[in-house]
Amino acid sequence: MTNRTPIIAGNWKMHNTLAESAALITALTKAGNKNKAEIIVAPSYTSLAEVAKLARGSEIQVASQDVHWEDKGAFTSAVSPVQAKDAGATITLIGHSERRSVFGDSDEILNKKVAAALRHGLKVIFCVGETLQEREENKTMQVIESQLKNGLANFTQEQLKGIVIAYEPVWAIGTGKTATPEQAQEVHAAIRAYLTGAYSEDFAQATRILYGGSVKDSNVDEIMAQPDVDGALVGGQSLIAEKFARIINFN
Ligand code: PGA
Repeated sequence: MTNRTPIIAGNWKMHNTLAESAALITALTKAGNKNKAEIIVAPSYTSLAEVAKLARGSEIQVASQDVHWEDKGAFTSAVSPVQAKDAGATITLIGHSERRSVFGDSDEILNKKVAAALRHGLKVIFCVGETLQEREENKTMQVIESQLKNGLANFTQEQLKGIVIAYEPVWAIGTGKTATPEQAQEVHAAIRAYLTGAYSEDFAQATRILYGGSVKDSNVDEIMAQPDVDGALVGGQSLIAEKFARIINFN
């Protein structure tokens, strides 16, 4: 890692009642932050405002797990970037593999969501990753480059400044199967090379690339030791205060 500030982000997915969310964020505000990382949690919408309120004054930033591409309107069940911001989010995930595969978010839809988030000054964590079949067919970088190219189409590097990329191999999410540190490094380096070609060397060097997929307290250190891994996006273990605290304070 160069001088990029590490990011440790927790994606709570569809977990936690309001009381559970409050207890978790309260515990995390006491977790310490020995690496001076940017710490982010993404609660479900029903807990967003409460978690943002309880995180205020701490080092923890609050993210939305997704946003709709319109500011308001007849889109039953969706949450707009305006509403996410109003609830206290300063960041949003876009393109998580569960959004892509379960809810059918296409590259075109994700591109509109990125535009909406940037329009409202929400920082974007844009998620990419290949399925097991794509990896076995040696299509990993082809898939990721197309996700980046199409999902981030029509933005200048100036507009994308500050964007965070999360590499999450689909086969590693929630499966307990983590990419090896070498596998993660290989893809992260390839993503950085893609960013250099598509934008510039400066942009690529400044952009944080997170790894996600079964990150645990027991493997975070070796993953974070890779030169092109700038942080972690954590699902399961971000729901357990002691585990996530250990991940935040990686060695
Ligand atoms: P996991 O999820 O850590 O439970 O594998 C990661 C993610 O989906 O962001």
